[in-house]
Amino acid sequence: MNDAPLGGLSPTTFLRRHWHKSPLLVAQAVPDFLGLLTPPEIRKLATHPDVQARLVIRSGKSWQLHHGPFRPVDFKSLPDKNWTVLVQDLNHWLPEASQLLNRFSFIPDARLDDLMVSYAVPGGGVGPHFDSYDVFLLQGFGLRRWAIAETRDLELRTDCDLKILRRFKPQQEWELSAGDMLYLPPQWAHDGMALTECFTYSVGFRAPTRQEWVNAFLDHLRDHLLVEGRYADPDLKWQPDPAELSHPLLQQIGHILQTIRWTDQDILSCVGRYLSEPKPHVFFTPPTAPLTEAAFRKALGRTSLHLDRCSRLLYRGRHFFMNGEEWQAPAAHCPFWKTLANQHVTPPHKADMALSSALHGFYLAGWIHLASSEQGDHPLKRNLLPRKKLV
Ligand code: SIN
Ligand code: CO
Repeated sequence: MNDAPLGGLSPTTFLRRHWHKSPLLVAQAVPDFLGLLTPPEIRKLATHPDVQARLVIRSGKSWQLHHGPFRPVDFKSLPDKNWTVLVQDLNHWLPEASQLLNRFSFIPDARLDDLMVSYAVPGGGVGPHFDSYDVFLLQGFGLRRWAIAETRDLELRTDCDLKILRRFKPQQEWELSAGDMLYLPPQWAHDGMALTECFTYSVGFRAPTRQEWVNAFLDHLRDHLLVEGRYADPDLKWQPDPAELSHPLLQQIGHILQTIRWTDQDILSCVGRYLSEPKPHVFFTPPTAPLTEAAFRKALGRTSLHLDRCSRLLYRGRHFFMNGEEWQAPAAHCPFWKTLANQHVTPPHKADMALSSALHGFYLAGWIHLASSEQGDHPLKRNLLPRKKLV
């Protein structure tokens, strides 16, 4: 992976020394990087109803958090200092953002959350806090000072909506300029304050809690487990207190529950579906004038096919998972699906009927696109598309 933004470190060395363990500052991680957005563009994104945006305003020691979508006028009334606007999932909106994420493919897709962007005026930031995520903070245009600390004192202030640490004693500080990057493992306290007008691009990698996994797996079992038989009590004994739950009743139910079994395939299905499930606010745009299946199959032989920027395609062996759906591919189709999963694009391909029919279904849902067709119909996507290549 020669374009991994790790300075002189190989991904293997980074993973061994730093990943999930200790911070790393990389000067000029992405040389000549000036960012992907301009201030008017991020303001425009933040006014869109489908975009997850936040505005954080600081006044002395007090912080205000506002959730988008915003109105253009909301930005007009802001002061010159001490605020920041943050937009999640930039990779869903901007092709350059997905390209930037490709540089982080030395971390498996299963761990990726999103690319968030923040724009701040001098003094702006979200205050001292910690994240439960591994995060790469890539500086775009402008200067930001990052202060970090390894601490067990993670108590939060209760007087504001933002998760701000009650106490924060910086142990290390750096000034980051365009192209510099700071990697932080989860739970490290950090505070990034804009020194000038600036952008920060945060690549976040999620690690669901154990409780989330257990909940997801219990959901999976509820939907897939088939248990036969019924509670039976031919030996029922008379009991003087009819409202009391008897020991034999509880014991029998305990035995029923002890018969619950699952296989490695259940674990794979649960994990694949869970990790590929789109976030609740994600929408796909089906093609406005879709090709028939026959025309689609012909087109596949001539043009490349792209994964939609919002689609998540994961696999193990012949089991594939896209946007929460699961299927088992015939061995002959696996190289095709794996290329689409790993590269997010496949070259023109003479697909057989079964493959083109599966692909046509995903195409109609807006999960994949032919190169010749526009990706998504969103007016904002269209406005942002024709940009010069920055990464
Ligand atoms: C920011 O970009 O202001 C915040 C990013 C972070 O601290 O995770
Ligand atoms: Co953070």
